[in-house]
Formats: sequence, structure tokens, C-alpha cells
Amino acid sequence: MARRLPDGGLDPLAAHEVVGPDPDDTPFTPSELRAYAGEVDAIISVLTDRIDADLIERGAAGRLRVVANVAVGYDNVDVGAAREHGIVVCNTPGVLDETTADLAFTLILSAARLAHAAETDLRAGDWHGWGITQYLGRDVHGATLGIVGYGRIGRAVARRASGFGMQVLHHARTDSGEPGFVADLDELLAAADIVSLHVPGGDASRHLIDARRLALMKPTAVLVNTARGSVVDEDALADALHSGRLFAAGLDVFEREPEVRPRLLSAPNAVLLPHIGSASQATRTRMARLAAQAVAIVLEGGIPPNVVPA
Ligand code: DGY
Repeated sequence: MARRLPDGGLDPLAAHEVVGPDPDDTPFTPSELRAYAGEVDAIISVLTDRIDADLIERGAAGRLRVVANVAVGYDNVDVGAAREHGIVVCNTPGVLDETTADLAFTLILSAARLAHAAETDLRAGDWHGWGITQYLGRDVHGATLGIVGYGRIGRAVARRASGFGMQVLHHARTDSGEPGFVADLDELLAAADIVSLHVPGGDASRHLIDARRLALMKPTAVLVNTARGSVVDEDALADALHSGRLFAAGLDVFEREPEVRPRLLSAPNAVLLPHIGSASQATRTRMARLAAQAVAIVLEGGIPPNVVPA
């Protein structure tokens, strides 16, 4: 394993020798990770490990058979290279949807209601008493929510939204055939009061939300991203927030994690979290176990259900 996993996460591999990082969990450098790939049957990686073509080749020259990424996203893994070398790649779908949807909703609520800005003032001693015109956010109840990407997590966010009396629209590459489907992303962006992103990362979705699309959104709108940082053009988003062209944003993911652009850090009405979408004890343990189970199945000659699609 490339990083230490939550307690119990490795139980499915009890019959195997597991090697990993030093006790203080220092991440492997890319060259250490490459060297490690040449010596193991399986790698359990996390989303910050770059499993690129070089590493895959190194692994294939040794005895590497499977890479199990402890994340539903796998844009850090060169799946094509792995496939060419007959190395199986697995992810952890299905076990983090509700937890990630909870976090998306946390961002929706705190960005729309300016909770972060208000709390920051309070902690800094800059709140000098209740005021009728202070911290005037936007209502979440009754608002129109536009969900971009209507997979398991997008649907879990939609379920929560119905409890808030929101009108829910969704956009996906293929027609869901369900009420609220909007084929044209631009149309959804123009109609929504709150937009929540749930598309996979990677080349196909890079800067899906760019300056042109941000300009289509209402100036009163809120943008939430719990998917991948690369989905949003962060410079354009920072411009939109600084100019007041967009009301607020809630971000859990960034283009160059752990770096966050200074102009986002200083942007008004931005709630910024350090990629904690799936970070509950129970969910992270389930993710680790699912990855470990996949490894065990491959090492025993089987095909796990969570092999990533081509
Ligand atoms: C994922 O699983 O892809 C998340 O970003 C981390 O849980």
C-alpha cells in the first residue's frame, strides 16, 4: 500500500504480506513508488499517487497484477497503460456516495448562507453585534439546483435537495430519461441558483466550467465542486468571485492539490475545504476494504466487480 489506511481496511489481505510507507506515513516520492512497483504483486494507491505509464511499465517488468485505487475517481491512474500490460485497475465505487453528497450539501449550505465568512469574522473578533443587513446569503430551500453529472453521487445530492424543497435539474452526457433532465449544459447553468458538479475528472471534463460558462450563471448563483479541481477553470472562477459576477462558491477539490491559488484563497464568499468529501471514519474504512478485497480477488485469480471501465 502506498499510504497508511484506516484501521481494519487491510483485513481482506490478512493472508498476504503487506508492505507500505514508514510509520509516519510519508508519501513515496515518484521514484520510490516506481521502484516499489517493480517489487510487488499489487499496489493499493490513493488519489495523490501518480500511477503513470512509467510506473506501470516498471510494475509489468516485475510481477505487478493489480492497482486498486482507494477512491471512486481514478484520473491519477493511466488505465490505458495498465490495460496494455494486462494489469487490472480497480476503484471504490458505491461506498462513498452518501458521505460525499453530505459534504456537497455542507458546501451548498455554507456557501449560500455565507456561514464561513460570518464565522471567520466572529472568530477574529470582528462581529460587533447583530445587524439586520449583515451576512445576507441566498436561500437554499426553494432554490433551483443544477446537478452536473448524474451518477450515484449526483443522485444522492438530488435526494437531499428534495428534502429542502428545491427544484432539481440535472445534466449528463446521456439522457437519464428522468424528470429534470436538461440536455444542454449551458441551459442548466443559466437556470440554476445553485450548481453542484459530479462529473469524473480527466481530459473529457477539463475546464468544463470555464469563463464562458461561468458568465452564463446568474450573478446570484452558487457553484459547488466536490468532483475534481480540473473540472473548473479556477482563474476564471476567482475572477468571477472577485468581480461579484458570481455570488459564492464551495470547493472541496483543486486543480493542483495541495496548492490552492492565492486568488481563490482571497476570493469573497468562497468556502474552501481540503478534499474531505469522503472523509468519514466509516466511509474511508469501507473504501480501503473494498480496494483490499479487489486485490485479494485478483491475487486469487478472480475478477473483482470494481474493475474500472475501459
Ligand atoms: C474519490 O473517491 O475520488 C474522492 O475524491 C476521494 O474520496
